[in-house]
Amino acid sequence: MERTFLAIKPDGIQRGLIGEIISRFEAKGFTLVGLKFMKVSRELAEQHYNIHREKSFFTGLVDFITSGPVIAMVWEGSGAIAAARKMIGATNPLTAEPGTIRGDLGIDIGRNIIHGSDAPETATQEISLWFKDEELISWQPSLISWIR
Ligand code: TYD
Repeated sequence: MERTFLAIKPDGIQRGLIGEIISRFEAKGFTLVGLKFMKVSRELAEQHYNIHREKSFFTGLVDFITSGPVIAMVWEGSGAIAAARKMIGATNPLTAEPGTIRGDLGIDIGRNIIHGSDAPETATQEISLWFKDEELISWQPSLISWIR
């Protein structure tokens, strides 16, 4: 079963979008296997965005990601990596399609609400960077009916 790494960035937390964002992945049918609310260290932010180290926006990006708490998550399901990217939308929220998280909820490329792994290799790398094995839980729905 495929797993992807998603993180709600400080702007998503501060704008009260946690429930909205998690709801979209639950409703789609993916399964949450890991979640933590955390302050990101500069070291972790720099490692996570290492590929952008030489870019002009790198320092601002690291400042932003470390500026307030984030929610780091791992979601599981068939085709989860590509589907989550599609649900997140283009990097620039202004050009992201309506119906996507960034397209519906954002206007600023530097404040684009959520991160999602872009390929199987980066998903594996990011999951192991952000989570220990014992923080990830594979689970199945119980056969018990909870309300009757
Ligand atoms: P990138 O990996 O290209 O985008 P995505 O998050 O869609 O995978 O870039 C990482 C983050 O860097 C992006 O979410 C926002 C920030 N960024 C800027 O601030 N300015 C830019 O011009 C670009 C390309 C990215």
